[in-house]
Amino acid sequence: MAGLIPQHFIDDLLTRIDIVEVIDARVPLKKKGREYAACCPFHGEKTPSFYVSPEKQFYHCFGCGVHGTAIGFLMEYENLNFVEAIEALAESAGVEVPREDDGQPATKRVDYSPLYDALESASHFFQQQLREHPAAQDYFKQRGLSGETARDFLLGFAPEGWNNLEKHFGPKYDEQLLLKVGLLSKNDKGKVYDKFRERIMFPILDRRGRVIAFGGRIIGEGEPKYLNSPESPVFHKGNTLYGLYEARKNNTRLDSLLVVEGYMDCIALAQHGIKNVVATLGTATTREHLQQLFRVVKRIIICFDGDEAGRKAAWRALEQALPVLRDDLEIDFLFLPDGEDPDSLLQKEGAAGFREKLEQAQPLSAYLLDSLRKRHDLGTLEGRSRMTLEARKLVQALSKGLLREQLIQRIAELAALEPKHLLAEAPAKRPQRPLSRQQSQAQTLKMTAMRQAIACLLQKPALAEKISEAQLSGMQTLPGGELFCLLVDIIREQPQATTAILLEHLRDSPHIKAVQQLNLWQPPEAESWPELLTDALQQLSRQQRENRLQELLDRSRSNSLNEVEKQELGRLLQS
Ligand code: UTP
Ligand code: MN
Repeated sequence: MAGLIPQHFIDDLLTRIDIVEVIDARVPLKKKGREYAACCPFHGEKTPSFYVSPEKQFYHCFGCGVHGTAIGFLMEYENLNFVEAIEALAESAGVEVPREDDGQPATKRVDYSPLYDALESASHFFQQQLREHPAAQDYFKQRGLSGETARDFLLGFAPEGWNNLEKHFGPKYDEQLLLKVGLLSKNDKGKVYDKFRERIMFPILDRRGRVIAFGGRIIGEGEPKYLNSPESPVFHKGNTLYGLYEARKNNTRLDSLLVVEGYMDCIALAQHGIKNVVATLGTATTREHLQQLFRVVKRIIICFDGDEAGRKAAWRALEQALPVLRDDLEIDFLFLPDGEDPDSLLQKEGAAGFREKLEQAQPLSAYLLDSLRKRHDLGTLEGRSRMTLEARKLVQALSKGLLREQLIQRIAELAALEPKHLLAEAPAKRPQRPLSRQQSQAQTLKMTAMRQAIACLLQKPALAEKISEAQLSGMQTLPGGELFCLLVDIIREQPQATTAILLEHLRDSPHIKAVQQLNLWQPPEAESWPELLTDALQQLSRQQRENRLQELLDRSRSNSLNEVEKQELGRLLQS
């Protein structure tokens, strides 16, 4: 069994990599002063409140409060466990992860492998059930799917009955675990039963091909038509795309990817030889979806229904796309005739008909200008002003570049304005960064001198150099002193330590909660960190002196002081 990953390796790794690069590769960042910012990938937002500090090697969202190091980011964003995140970073830094061979289990951290195991076994079970249920096979035939397509997408069947999984698995998997991944459900009375019954099963795979969830379609009529696994530790809808693994497996050098709305659309297209397709899982297209796709291809084609709902969804996708777009990337929009989805269109017109439609996909700029023209009456001053207001927001969301310049030109023409007026606005006030909830909690912390000193070390680890041995000795006896000395020790051993390195050292320590809070604390006044530390250290040594004086005075009353202590007491009384 693999041993623990040594701490010094983690330290070294964190000094080799740059959190700005790690995050920017996944969520494009823009420089803002000494930091970098983006719209937060962990919650929906239109204005960036997600900040990355190159100095602290730390990220923090002022909107939803998420924060952490590069390791923590990968764990959250790519849904990796601790060891996997280290491995991913090591790979990008070109180093190998050593293990301490101390016979300990590989990691004390949460290990999701039993969850993946259970989902994988369930998928095998559903595939085997499909082979044994001709009625379910007939359903595929009736929808025009071949056995080969069913195998490519690992399609299966959940038979009728309430406890097939229990019968099949026996005691192999814990009930809690199966509830957690959503294979079982529990009713109000506490009765536990199979979630998916009499349904065609579509396993949902992550980017590595692991089963992380299922969609189940009812055979025939009934509600709900599709049942989906709930969110779980291994499944997050907002960053999962159905069919992405299969599309990449089929062709590792994809040029473009088509985004459709349904499982069956994705599969029907593949059956017709159009295999560069993914589906969103009954949710709106998120920025994360688009970012993920742009990591794989340079062109995305959004393919939605031509009806009202489809148009709305497409416009939302456009808004999400603007901040993600760069001049070397392309997003096109394809609207199908009202009432048709790709699957139904293929049945009527075949692959050739669909490919013909695909030719008519509109580039984002054309779709955007078209919509502006349709929505506003450009024959009046008022209409042109309203159009300009709307366009201004859209253009501002776009990153700087040639596309943006050209759009500004075109919109200015539509508005009959000089291009320079299009972006002219009230003088930009420096936006006051709002405090995140965690940060406001940190602000209400009662700041003792010790807490202030710790906050300073977290912000500027290099300040530890300024602390003398005399200041350090005796610190241990004060509340919080243990943590303070621990931090100083770590920094002395590793003078280039960043905030991130300190946080990773303490990841499993009982101090971590306190450290996280203090790390978010901001000094209320514009005092500098070195001043704050000096001030805190002075207060602490005064405290130490007073404590020592009190102790010696107490003991002098019982006459238990030796000569040295008596001299010390004399000095303390004079100072
Ligand atoms: P549609 O209702 O368009 O279904 O939902 P579809 O893909 O055309 O399915 P078929 O052709 O009738 O089999 C589109 C997507 O929305 C989600 C599913 O992901 C579905 O593929 N959805 C739909 C649900 O999650 N639950 C539902 O009850 C319906
Ligand atoms: Mn359909």
